[in-house]
Amino acid sequence: MRKHMDLAVVLLFGTMILASASFAQQQALDAEGHPWWQHAVFYEIYPRSFADSNNDGIGDLNGITSKLDYVRKLGVDAIWITPCFPSPQVDFGYDVSDYEAIDPMYGTMADFDRLSAESRKRNIGVILDFVVNHTSDQHKWFLDSKSSKSSAHRDWYIWRDGKGPNQPPNNWTSTFGTAAWTYDAATKQYYYHYFYPQQPDLNWRNAAVEKAMFDTTRFWYKRGVAGFRLDAVDTMYEREDLKDNPAAPGMDKFGRPNTEEKYNKKLPEVHAALRRLRKVADEYNAVLIGETWTSDVSQLKDYYGEHNDELQLPMDLLLNGLPFSPDAYRKHVAAMDSSGRWPVYVISNHDMTRSYTRYADGQHNDEIAKLMAAFYLTLRGTAIMYYGEELGMENNDPKSKDEVQDPVGRLSWPTDKGRDGERTPMQWTSGTNAGFSEHQPWLPVPPSAKRHNVASEEKDPHSVLETYRSILALRHHQPALIEGDYFPLNNDDPNVLAYLRRYKNQEVLVVLNFSGRNQEARIEEAAAGYISLLSSGAKLGPDGYKTILLEPFGFYMARLQK
Ligand code: NOJ
Ligand code: CA
Repeated sequence: MRKHMDLAVVLLFGTMILASASFAQQQALDAEGHPWWQHAVFYEIYPRSFADSNNDGIGDLNGITSKLDYVRKLGVDAIWITPCFPSPQVDFGYDVSDYEAIDPMYGTMADFDRLSAESRKRNIGVILDFVVNHTSDQHKWFLDSKSSKSSAHRDWYIWRDGKGPNQPPNNWTSTFGTAAWTYDAATKQYYYHYFYPQQPDLNWRNAAVEKAMFDTTRFWYKRGVAGFRLDAVDTMYEREDLKDNPAAPGMDKFGRPNTEEKYNKKLPEVHAALRRLRKVADEYNAVLIGETWTSDVSQLKDYYGEHNDELQLPMDLLLNGLPFSPDAYRKHVAAMDSSGRWPVYVISNHDMTRSYTRYADGQHNDEIAKLMAAFYLTLRGTAIMYYGEELGMENNDPKSKDEVQDPVGRLSWPTDKGRDGERTPMQWTSGTNAGFSEHQPWLPVPPSAKRHNVASEEKDPHSVLETYRSILALRHHQPALIEGDYFPLNNDDPNVLAYLRRYKNQEVLVVLNFSGRNQEARIEEAAAGYISLLSSGAKLGPDGYKTILLEPFGFYMARLQK
């Protein structure tokens, strides 16, 4: 009996240890010693808009859990869920009032644990969003901070006297169009906020803030999260002496004179803090992804850290801003590839016009969406997709100012209509509310959902969805696409972007027509023996292998049998 008990205890313990090893800890390094996230495709989910399990018009965690089979079948490796923590939702979750709980609108901690366990079963990692720069003004830290000048948390935020009556401490502006300083009449000081007044900036110079925030990451790592996407990292620190920012030419979209954000952004202190945060992540084998807006590759390089000891995956947000041209892409990919750092490509997210709309020419929109997938998902690096991108979901911008939900859209209307357009419900079916909810969704579904939705596209082998699935499957199974070096071809071609990915004796050729005309690409490096892997309809020319005939925005991928 006793023996049996021992065995039962050992088994129980063994199971518990296995279950408590995080996703990240379970991932082995590959043959080349690369960690899982270097091969991974991440899939960003905006929880309000993915799937609504309780039909209140707002997506939730149980909704996400119910769609994990879809996520698995799509062929991504991890999901990044934008903030699902308690929040007054002024900035739709980016105003966190408790970092260690789930907003009841999205479910419970038990729902999160179930989502996490179900993801693990499908070998999908879960990444959460870490809003480092600011909290909600309803966070208990800020409520205490605001309560008096001598409160325990006063110095957790950035409080200063005004320069004089009705004069803020300096000329810094909020990126959301309001003043960056809000006056608190009770304590007669201003607090600083780079975003909305409801998002006061934390004072990272205070060691207690850093400790509390780092402990938050530990809390979630222990619950099995594989890493974090860090929000607005470049705004973590600002100059202590509050020096005025220099004036810059022109006006911004809110009609204010521009200033150069020299003293409230991208300070060197950010990097030291990231190195310390990375040490905590390393204890859990976790990955840190960064929301890193930079002006060039060299600035982006800084976020990896000189010794690769900061963010493993700072997002390349430069690619989405480039002109749609082989030349621009060729130069950018070459710069990224020769930077000595691991690239992280992104073409869409919840803050920018959806890629489908951005690249559309009105005539070949689906072909262009497929071409972009064939491009950025076959480059050397990690890729981050945005939900619905795989369907060809388009932006559905508000038609009038009253419809706008995103406060920034109201402040900058009509120059900028805000970010509602890229945050609309995931399109599951051609039915009511695109199958997202039985209730009217929090944002309207566009008429194009009738055609661009999971159920319809699954039936069409040439749909955007099926093309994404095929490319993602290739990406996971072709060693050259996983490990291969990048070799650009035909560098002078203004219409066709072509490259090889090479690994040991394996080679994959990718040929992409960025023009609206038929193209014949001549690949001198091509050798006999290419085996077509995937194509939009493009094919080898009559010579059998050196010429590739591409239709408008067509793509061609082949593997060389050596
Ligand atoms: C970047 C987030 O992606 C965006 O949605 C948010 O409004 C700001 N950071 C502020 O947290
Ligand atoms: Ca709901």
